[in-house]
Amino acid sequence: MLWFRSKRIGIDLGTSNTYIYIPKKGTILRESSVVAKNKQTNEVIAIGNEAKEMMGRTPKGVATVCPLKRGVIADYETTASMMDHYLKLSRSISRDLMRKPRAVICVPSGSTSIEKRAVLDAAKHAGIHKVCTLDSIMAAALGANLPVWEASGVMMMDIGGGTTETAVFSLSGIVVTESIKVAGQEMDKAIMRHIQKAYHLVIGVSTAESIKIEIGAAFLPTQQEREVEMAVCGRDLWTGLPKTIHITAGEVEQALFDPLSLIIDSVRKTLEKTPPELSADVFERGIVVAGGGALLKNFNTMLSQAIGIPVSIAENPLDCTVLGTARALKQKQQPVISS
Ligand SMILES: Nc1ncnc2c1ncn2[C@@H]1O[C@H](COP(=O)(O)OP(=O)(O)OP(=O)(O)O)[C@@H](O)[C@H]1O
Ligand SMILES: [Mg+2]
Repeated sequence: MLWFRSKRIGIDLGTSNTYIYIPKKGTILRESSVVAKNKQTNEVIAIGNEAKEMMGRTPKGVATVCPLKRGVIADYETTASMMDHYLKLSRSISRDLMRKPRAVICVPSGSTSIEKRAVLDAAKHAGIHKVCTLDSIMAAALGANLPVWEASGVMMMDIGGGTTETAVFSLSGIVVTESIKVAGQEMDKAIMRHIQKAYHLVIGVSTAESIKIEIGAAFLPTQQEREVEMAVCGRDLWTGLPKTIHITAGEVEQALFDPLSLIIDSVRKTLEKTPPELSADVFERGIVVAGGGALLKNFNTMLSQAIGIPVSIAENPLDCTVLGTARALKQKQQPVISS
């Protein structure tokens, strides 16, 4: 009951992005999970979207760090500084948070107790009075308004930056779950590999991500769509000089084949492990996909054709998980949350 009365905050601490939600105010913070640091002194130079803009463009003594790898904290100190900064920003938006706030933070399902402890410690370091963790796939399902409490199978998929999680829920619990470390960032790497192999051109992660967002697709039905081009600038491997090439959407579709095949396999594995009664429900209702990866053009058509089940994209794929923390925060009794 005490939990219900205190100042509350929902946090999605993702590999690519961090989102913060405050009841009545909505999602008040959407920032990249990136920090720019001085390599020698470790002094923080920029955090969030500003640091992301610096990726691949930093001078000698500065490094950009993504402190979360594949959904879990890889660099505790940097994560703590980032969380500290985001909490300060949130306090400037909602002064209520000055007084002993309590938070629900999402963690990938299957996180070890050490990984969860690191998240809880980083939050406490940032001044959060009491913290609970919530499985991020459960949060995504709550955020997508799926009826996880019903006695029937409901399937959700979240394609983030570092991980793709798939789960089937029934009676407010996760019945089966599958998590792979292939998501948006692996798609970017596949595009980088293709461009290096085909054109001997080295490009940065940010360029690869913008190619994926601009002309990338899981499936292109017409030749006309495959021929759409984009100019890409990088460093020629042989001459070491800058060079511009033109890449087609069809090439990007091909380059994304391998990571997307692994994502399809993980859905198949989840379905194979699902009890038959619940499979029948999933077959009827279909799968809902959230996370930034769900925004890849025609992802739902491709997945639906590959597994023969209807696939829909959640209304706010990027905000879905943090919206789920908000819905969990509203519950007086919180059966899905652990501390
Ligand atoms: N329009 C788009 N098309 C394809 N991919 C996109 C698009 N917009 C964003 N993305 C990708 O979505 C990913 C980020 O999604 P999201 O914010 O859900 O990840 P995250 O929650 O930080 O990561 P994780 O859940 O793995 O810890 C990035 O890899 C980004 O490139
Ligand atoms: Mg996520």
